[in-house]
Amino acid sequence: MKLKTTSKTPLASRTETTHIVQPQDINPIGTIFGGTVMAWIDLAAAACANRHTRKVCVTASMDELHFLSPIHLGEIVILKANVNYTHRTSLEVGVRVESEDPFTGERRHTASAYLTFVALDKKGSPTPVPPVLPQTAQEKMWFEEARVRRIARLSSKGRRRTSKGNV
Ligand SMILES: CC(C)(COP(=O)(O)OP(=O)(O)OC[C@H]1O[C@@H](n2cnc3c(N)ncnc32)[C@H](O)[C@@H]1OP(=O)(O)O)[C@@H](O)C(=O)NCCC(=O)NCCS
Repeated sequence: MKLKTTSKTPLASRTETTHIVQPQDINPIGTIFGGTVMAWIDLAAAACANRHTRKVCVTASMDELHFLSPIHLGEIVILKANVNYTHRTSLEVGVRVESEDPFTGERRHTASAYLTFVALDKKGSPTPVPPVLPQTAQEKMWFEEARVRRIARLSSKGRRRTSKGNV
């Protein structure tokens, strides 16, 4: 298939970042602060969004995040970010977080997150992003799942705006 000149494959912007958990990253029971992992997720996803759009991108939302297993001092943390879906000015980036035992190499899935970024022009207004063209069966599945998530996410945003609750 011939790609449109402005479109990009997910592979072109796929991003992997690696950290070693330092003493300042851990809580009193020796496991990493959730907020540190969240910041690393945001940074990996932002790099991926920047590579795809080559524009300034801001985080519009991060979907619910579950920490599946603890990460300990000295472990290696690997974050893999992928552009799952693009709409007009926004794109969804999925991030998978794994921890690696530095001595055995054993890896565990720690968390997965979906973030939506919006590309901004020089005046700070939302601006179109290049369409992502999934190539593999897995990328096509991620694209379709992200399309469905976008609908649910925007409907949830609408409900929050009209809610009189305390959050
Ligand atoms: C994100 C932001 C630019 C959107 O501005 P806006 O005036 O709502 O823009 P629009 O209504 O024109 O929507 C622009 C795009 O953002 C998407 N969007 C807006 N809010 C969203 C949300 N909460 N979650 C997901 N996507 C969202 C819209 O669906 C639209 O996407 P599309 O063009 O691909 O269809 C604006 O809310 C903002 O600047 N937020 C603060 C971002 C920030 O500072 N982040 C860092 C942490 S505080």
